[in-house]
Amino acid sequence: MGKLYVFDHPLIQHKLSIMRDKDTGSKEFRELLNEIGMLMAYEVTRDLPLEDVEIETPICKCTTKMLSGRKLGVVPILRAGLGMVDGILNLVPAAKVGHIGLYRDPNTKKPVEYYCKLPSDAHERLLIVVDPMLATGGSSSAAIQFLKDRGCTNIRLMCLIGAPEGIKTVQQAHPDVDIYIAAVDSYLNEHAYIVPGLGDAGDRLFGTK
Ligand code: PRP
Ligand code: URA
Repeated sequence: MGKLYVFDHPLIQHKLSIMRDKDTGSKEFRELLNEIGMLMAYEVTRDLPLEDVEIETPICKCTTKMLSGRKLGVVPILRAGLGMVDGILNLVPAAKVGHIGLYRDPNTKKPVEYYCKLPSDAHERLLIVVDPMLATGGSSSAAIQFLKDRGCTNIRLMCLIGAPEGIKTVQQAHPDVDIYIAAVDSYLNEHAYIVPGLGDAGDRLFGTK
């Protein structure tokens, strides 16, 4: 079973509470999502391997540490996952970005794929799949499966809010994938929206309805 990391950092919890507020507008919502993305990425990348490198400071030559060969990829699930990408890239500018386009059919609640474009070396990278909302878990599970179907084996999932149902779905479908999340909410309502959640993340991010 993959591990579940729930971020209880006060800065993340504070920012998330503002995002949940229905009166928070798109501009602030976008800024907060990016900020939380950056804070979470700090932890998600905590165990990246380092290697020794020789450099020369103004004082002398020395051996010091830099990130080693294993490279990072960020894979937002469109649309709402886009809102976390810039925050992560602020920390890891060399990461490549792949995109998976999925929308949830409002009737079946099942994910429908409409786009997939990955870096050509995606299978050699640690991939962080990002999506603020983990509701039924259908979209995240499908996105992870697309990556696996293309030979990717080193995958983590980073979300903002998850419902217990969605977390369980991903853990069962992908026991090799660790999940990083800022909050585990109560349950899904009859429209498969997270309660209390924050509403429709894509709409709030982009000002659509
Ligand atoms: C939302 C959200 C997730 C998905 C979560 O996207 O961003 O991708 O729903 O639901 P699930 O866990 O039940 O699959 P949506 O389908 O609304 O598309 P959008 O981001 O383009 O608005
Ligand atoms: N998608 C969202 O954007 N919000 C939810 O609560 C569930 C799915």
